Amino acid sequence: MKVQKIRTVKTTLTSQDNPYLQKTWLPNYEEYDVVDLESKGRIPEDIEGVYLRNTENQIHEPIGRYHPFDGDGMIHSISFKNGKANYRNRFVETTGFKMEQILGQSLWAGLMEGRGKSKLPGWGAQGYIKDSSSTDVVIHSGKALSTFYQCGEGYRLDPITLEQLGKESWVPIDGISSHPKVDLKTGELLFFNYSKYEPYMHYGVVDSDNNLKHYTPIPLPGPRLPHDMAFTKNYSIFNDSPLFWDNKLLEQGVHATVMHDLPLRFAVIPRFGTEKDIKWFEAEPTFVLHFNNAYEDGDEIILEGYFQENPWPPNYQGAPQGLERMMAFLDLHLLKPSLHCWRFNLKTGVTREEKIDDRVLEFGTINREYATRRHRYTYSCIPTKGFFTFDGFTKQDLISGSFQSYKFGRGIIGSEISFAPKLKAIDEDDGYLVSITSDLNTNTSECVLFDAKNINHGPICTMPLPHMVCSGTHSIWAQIHEL
Ligand SMILES: [Fe+2]
Repeated sequence: MKVQKIRTVKTTLTSQDNPYLQKTWLPNYEEYDVVDLESKGRIPEDIEGVYLRNTENQIHEPIGRYHPFDGDGMIHSISFKNGKANYRNRFVETTGFKMEQILGQSLWAGLMEGRGKSKLPGWGAQGYIKDSSSTDVVIHSGKALSTFYQCGEGYRLDPITLEQLGKESWVPIDGISSHPKVDLKTGELLFFNYSKYEPYMHYGVVDSDNNLKHYTPIPLPGPRLPHDMAFTKNYSIFNDSPLFWDNKLLEQGVHATVMHDLPLRFAVIPRFGTEKDIKWFEAEPTFVLHFNNAYEDGDEIILEGYFQENPWPPNYQGAPQGLERMMAFLDLHLLKPSLHCWRFNLKTGVTREEKIDDRVLEFGTINREYATRRHRYTYSCIPTKGFFTFDGFTKQDLISGSFQSYKFGRGIIGSEISFAPKLKAIDEDDGYLVSITSDLNTNTSECVLFDAKNINHGPICTMPLPHMVCSGTHSIWAQIHEL
């Protein structure tokens, strides 16, 4: 194993009082290259590709209250080939990151503060938030694309070396949201954005050669906060949730969400359709953070995701002053998301929906080779009670109804899992589940691989990383042919 520290970025952070700047959310400032990671347990030879993980790392003393999604994006890359693995991590060198490094201080307030506190108002995601590119990462056209949930630029990196390739040129003026989707069958990237002015949402398609091919409005009745989208072979699906801004407060520049007395609505649009082709479907009110898959079945579109029983939670008890709402929305055990299925009949316009399971789960994934067709297995993360981290994960067999779960252990949390198919996979669950764990007992992190057929047995190999990795939001696995 060869470990090389590439650099340590300048930090001015001194805050001690925010739970999301401590312990498993302690930011990383070091960038490393590790060739040939050591492993407890043999690294299998039939895994080839890369696991990418985006994380949020606050570098400078925040202006006002800090939200964990404000931190600067850092990508962790673990690439596998011939039974060996390499690790790299790099900050996403956004415009905001570079300017704050030059000036040695925070220039933008985060999500919890109004635009008035920004030192450079009028610039950034939604016009005032630093675009940290820290939420999500996908692989499209052979390159990594990191994105921000408040709609920002798309930043490209080499998925293996993490070389910075700069801003994506086709990103529209309203930016792109996190959770663009890549259709592995066509190589197309499907994306959306949202804003506070009409038509409030747009949808676009970028082809496999990275050319913007389609961009169309998805008109909404007002400013909304959609987080995810879904797609089938022929359609893209967007949502208009009743959880959105308190409009009166918004006029005063205060960003506070409330649950409105409205249904959840879904827009179904052909992949290259326009506004006139949108079919709207109504469903039981809730907020959906993430969807796992969607597919067509006769006249119906079937969509799987997580239905929140309590999308507008009470204040978090015991939070530091001023963080009560933030910590409530970050406690998935207060929001109570569980696996859910919506069925949209394109002929009748009727929605049918059903709860698949009542366990509190979120941040799901499937074998992406099975996207846009009926999948059998869903893998979900088990949220930590009271805190935005994951204690373990589950495997749900939607046909037999069987259920497996694995918990990492006391003081150990994992990052979002991704499914890595074996090179000669036959079954849907022929593959590995990949995650990065952070252990507060030892202040260390490991990359862990599980046999997806039997997660109960624990990891088949664990690869120590050179530092404890800060918690974050999303990850992706890309198979060798995607790179
Ligand atoms: Fe997300």
